[in-house]
Amino acid sequence: MKLWGGRFAKSTASLVDSFNASIEFDQKLYKHDIMGSIAHAKMLGKCNIITPKESQIIIEGLLSILADIEKGLVTFQIEYEDIHMNIEKLLIDRIGEVGKKLHTARSRNDQVAVDIRLYLREEIGTICGLLKELLTTLKNLGEYHIDTVMPGYTHLQRAQPVTFGYYMMAYFQMFKRDFERLQDCQDRVNILPLGAGALAGTTYHTDREYLAQELGFHGICENSLDAVSDRDFVIEFISDASIMMMHLSRFCEELILWSSAEFHFIEMDDAYSTGSSIMPQKKNPDVAELIRGKAGRIYGNLMNILTIMKALPLAYNKDMQEDKPPLFDTVENLKDCLLIFNEMLKTMTVRKDQMKKATKEGFMNATDVADYLVKKGLPFRSSHEIVGKMVLYCIQQGKTIDDLSLEEFQTFSPVFAEDILDVIKIENCIASKVSQGSTSHGSIEDMLKRAQDFLFDR
Ligand code: ARG
Repeated sequence: MKLWGGRFAKSTASLVDSFNASIEFDQKLYKHDIMGSIAHAKMLGKCNIITPKESQIIIEGLLSILADIEKGLVTFQIEYEDIHMNIEKLLIDRIGEVGKKLHTARSRNDQVAVDIRLYLREEIGTICGLLKELLTTLKNLGEYHIDTVMPGYTHLQRAQPVTFGYYMMAYFQMFKRDFERLQDCQDRVNILPLGAGALAGTTYHTDREYLAQELGFHGICENSLDAVSDRDFVIEFISDASIMMMHLSRFCEELILWSSAEFHFIEMDDAYSTGSSIMPQKKNPDVAELIRGKAGRIYGNLMNILTIMKALPLAYNKDMQEDKPPLFDTVENLKDCLLIFNEMLKTMTVRKDQMKKATKEGFMNATDVADYLVKKGLPFRSSHEIVGKMVLYCIQQGKTIDDLSLEEFQTFSPVFAEDILDVIKIENCIASKVSQGSTSHGSIEDMLKRAQDFLFDR
């Protein structure tokens, strides 16, 4: 007999049982379901909705179920549909009639909402921990490579010299925003829906403040109709995860390019690379490629949940059961990606020599020559044109700007003096970027200092 079987004259078709059931995936929530139920039973006892004795028997029953699940002694049943009813049924089987009192002043609608929030709150904590590890790696790379010169690109064309440390600190900013976004999301996850009942509230004098306190929520959903209908926090989390995956994917794309023979800026550690089944020489950046691919999967999860929720009337609809597969999939894949990406980054070899060599070509100091002329009094647009002509001359002569003699410089403008030969050195191009937030050594030191403070505070 189903827990809700009273008004039915026949049992459900077995086809419906298996179609309707979510136990296959929502058993992941067993711990959170029991946590929520324990708090609920405590509250019922405290408010004299059940006796303190009954409350205690229920709590002990729930704890023994938890222990058995953890020992692998429990098999969940499709017949009982989901984690909530499986546990309730186990409880009734174990402690008898009093177990039937647990569901007083509660619906599965507020129950499932509180379970998901408890689960997600915990997972956001874990993900923030992983993000913090990644931020620490980036900060360490930033420190170590503060003076490692490399080409910076726009349109994937060599643009201006920067340092690898500066590059890593750009990614630091991106993942720092991800961290902050998750903290912000956590504020909205951590609100209590339990006590809402099915949709309208309940007829019992419950104490939702007490429930919130017991479960560590910092507030209570104000409107019970909203409490059971809302999955914004799931959408918000998967949006944040999508942005994070986009960052990981961009980073992976760079690492894939950089580990090609064409760049040869980095080499992945053997432990984080794979070979080819046919080409004996191959060493492939599979891990980075797979993370790049997983970004697509997470975006799919976002579309999935957005589309499920679109046009659902208030309050609970069974469609909402479909929220869990994309949520769980996002959490699991995001954690895997963050963990492995960090290890891959820590173990890769940075080829400073190759990075430096790459800055010799591509006229990466051309903007510095233009700035030189501006400082000697020319308007920027005129100096831009002069240097453009100089670059064209170099291309025709097969030279770089560094190959030009002072006399050759002066054929383009009489204001060039001896000091130009210093200005065009790549190290000086970097050192002369004096604006706040630039690639110069001192500016990166400031970034590192702030990065350190950020990590220390968290
Ligand atoms: N398994 C359901 C879900 O995940 C639990 C809530 C069921 N509520 C209901 N009224 N049928 O959404």
